[in-house]
Amino acid sequence: AEALKLGVAGLGTVGASLMRILAERRESLATTCGRPIEVVAVTARSRGKDRGISLDGAKWFDDAVSLAREADIDVFVELMGGAEDPAYSAVKAALARGLHVVTANKALLAAHGMELAALAEENGALLNYEAAVAGGIPVIKAIRESMTGNTISRVYGIMNGTCNYILTRMEKEGLTFEACLKEAQRLGYAEADPTFDIEGNDTAHKLAILTSLAFGTAIAPDDIYLEGISNISIEDIQAAADLGYRIKLLGVAQRTESGIEQRVHPTMVPQNSVIAQVDGVTNAVAIEADILGELLMVGPGAGGNATASAVLGDIADIAKSRPGAQRVPAFGQPTSALRPYRRAQ
Ligand code: HSE
Repeated sequence: AEALKLGVAGLGTVGASLMRILAERRESLATTCGRPIEVVAVTARSRGKDRGISLDGAKWFDDAVSLAREADIDVFVELMGGAEDPAYSAVKAALARGLHVVTANKALLAAHGMELAALAEENGALLNYEAAVAGGIPVIKAIRESMTGNTISRVYGIMNGTCNYILTRMEKEGLTFEACLKEAQRLGYAEADPTFDIEGNDTAHKLAILTSLAFGTAIAPDDIYLEGISNISIEDIQAAADLGYRIKLLGVAQRTESGIEQRVHPTMVPQNSVIAQVDGVTNAVAIEADILGELLMVGPGAGGNATASAVLGDIADIAKSRPGAQRVPAFGQPTSALRPYRRAQ
């Protein structure tokens, strides 16, 4: 069968993991997907850097927009990050050509998700972004596909691995905030600018995406009460523990009578609750829905392999589909059917 041709933009932690997995599991993936998956074009910030992966056989492009415009590919895989250019222009250029897009970029989707989803629809392309929220946890697929028909009342959880890693190590090992953050950066969990992690912006980006999917509304990334963990001290964590609580950075979105409420802040959770037991880089997403009931998904929230696993799943979905056979609107329904966002009063 004809190979699915990928163009990969971004060879950081996630991009390099993806390249390694695609190379190592070439045969088994071809069997699973019914056709080989080939990386035929790549771009990254620096060409010469040793990433321990082979770029042989892939055409090098100096920038992502040229790759998106010119490469002979079926799928544009965007793993650069950042809400604006070059990621924004490159994804638009790919969708405008009718190329499918797979992205892990939550900042981009929070800022421009509606426009990109509409562009994907117009051009008959798929916009897949499982890796953008809660790393390896298949939460997008759960809400968008598995829970079709449910009315969702609340979505909440631990959606930033870096923050949860910091809070866990501060509590369990008495390490300083700075030491834990450095370690999270070294392990490839943190954003390029870790302020986004610790000030809660990254959680807010992910929450805004889940809110749109769960409640069928336009994305409202600026309507989120936001407080990060940079002011949390070991003393705060110990005081909470003395009272039987642990501190977690939660993102919460819920339906209220007056509209939707979205917030991100450090929260005291009872020590014996499931969410309190979620340690380290692990994420947890809880969804309350009328047909299904309560769903809680727990798993790796950041890191090269876990995130690449979700990216690979999105690529495999495209490889297995045939033109016209799969129609999954990016935010669950056509953008014209998404209601305006109405905030809680
Ligand atoms: N910096 C993010 C985190 C990466 O720590 O959760 C995964 O989106």
